[in-house]
Amino acid sequence: MSDKFYITTPIYYPSNKLTLGNCYTTVVCDAIARFHKMMGDDVFFLTGTDEHGQKIEKRAKEAGKFEMEFLNEIIADTKDLWKNLNIEYDKFIRTTDAEHEAAVKKIFKILYDKGEIYKAHYHGKYCTPCESFWTEEQLVDGKCPDCGRDVYDADEECYNFRLSKYTDKILELYKTHPEFLEPQSRVSEMVNNFLKNGLTDLCVTRKSVKWGVPVEWDPEHTIYVWIDALSNYITALGAFSDNDENFKKYWPANVHVIGKEIVRFHAIIWPAILMALELPLPKQVYGHGWMLIGGGKLSKSKDAGKKEIFDPRVLIERYGSDSVRNFIIGNIPFGQDGPYSQEIFLNSYNTNLANNVGNLVSRTVGMIQKYNGGVIDNTSALEPEDIAFKENVRQLRDLCIKYMVDMKPTQSYKTAISIIEACNGYTDQVAPWRLQKTKTRKLDSTLSFGCLQRHNLKPILFCFLSFQTK
Ligand code: MSP
Repeated sequence: MSDKFYITTPIYYPSNKLTLGNCYTTVVCDAIARFHKMMGDDVFFLTGTDEHGQKIEKRAKEAGKFEMEFLNEIIADTKDLWKNLNIEYDKFIRTTDAEHEAAVKKIFKILYDKGEIYKAHYHGKYCTPCESFWTEEQLVDGKCPDCGRDVYDADEECYNFRLSKYTDKILELYKTHPEFLEPQSRVSEMVNNFLKNGLTDLCVTRKSVKWGVPVEWDPEHTIYVWIDALSNYITALGAFSDNDENFKKYWPANVHVIGKEIVRFHAIIWPAILMALELPLPKQVYGHGWMLIGGGKLSKSKDAGKKEIFDPRVLIERYGSDSVRNFIIGNIPFGQDGPYSQEIFLNSYNTNLANNVGNLVSRTVGMIQKYNGGVIDNTSALEPEDIAFKENVRQLRDLCIKYMVDMKPTQSYKTAISIIEACNGYTDQVAPWRLQKTKTRKLDSTLSFGCLQRHNLKPILFCFLSFQTK
């Protein structure tokens, strides 16, 4: 029986200006999901969009549109981008889906009935762009600790989630399940920045936001972004609906892959909500690093003018979707930050794709056509150097698989590229252009090895690049 493997990206804030940085999480998840599919696992790969909140309300108004009309256009654009990057997700959830909204209402009610949510009064600071409440102590130089922008005084009636109850439970979780939060550096960030001094209860509704899911018995209050957004990981599977087969089958998730700026929500708030709901926790939260440009995270507003530099659509059109997949997976060590520049992008494209993969495919296909009438015999006998080479590739292939299982896609991809390099080296060494003169069976075995036919490499090569697997 195959293993089940449930992997998620975060749900994206709607934007028709998604940057190369925004593609990062989705491309890596796609490679991991494809790998598990090709290894025979029963995979469910979820992505989607996070569509509620004040910002959407405001942007739709500015565009002179109703919210749903405004959102539908953007979401079509996002789906189009994922299609052009050959992202093979199994479900695209929108937080405006009726099933999601109904399930969020139920989740809120259950938490309230259990006493995990209570009515309170919020005094503190609020960052509008991040839609986050902060205490004085959490501010950095009086500004939002997430984005560094100004915050304003907020004072309103709200519902609170008893997050403070969970400090010790989350610390215990990190201790007993060290694999829960990766890479390990994120654990110390969470402990030092948030858990060490004890968690405070969390405001989970807003009165001033109308675009969102209302509290059923108190509709003046709108369920605030994080309860709504985080729940997507279970509502997408049908949790708290009449059709919860997928939830029973796939939950708990094997891994939530997210960027480092939202680790707090996924590694503190989300497990606390699940504990309160008495549901199993995801097996892992992986907080990857950022793609940096000029030392900072790509910003949709700040860098929007430099279209040719980082607009994934431009890069896909000019260099193909594999250029983007190759850059993301191969150049930014998964878990760490890494720089983007056009120079690095093009160098990597030339080295990995043009000179390695492209060269190998075009020369072997060309030779098979020219010397063998377009056919190769995959069962031809092995020569001594074939046997040694086959063993070398087998070892590299095993390493690629191990890296992928261990959530090290960058190392796995680099190893996969080294297999291509080895195939090119082998082809140079055996030199089919000389062998073809003698027309021996050796030519068949050389070509079939050189062109990857006989190495069983599908799971490790097809997961990184754009090959269709369906
Ligand atoms: N809506 C929230 C997530 C809610 S999940 C319950 C959100 N959305 S986002 O659109 O801002 O970000 C989506 C993903 O893109 C995040 O994983 C984020 O880290 C990633 N990236 C956006 N810019 C990035 C880089 N420059 N580099 C790498 N990934 C970054 O957060």
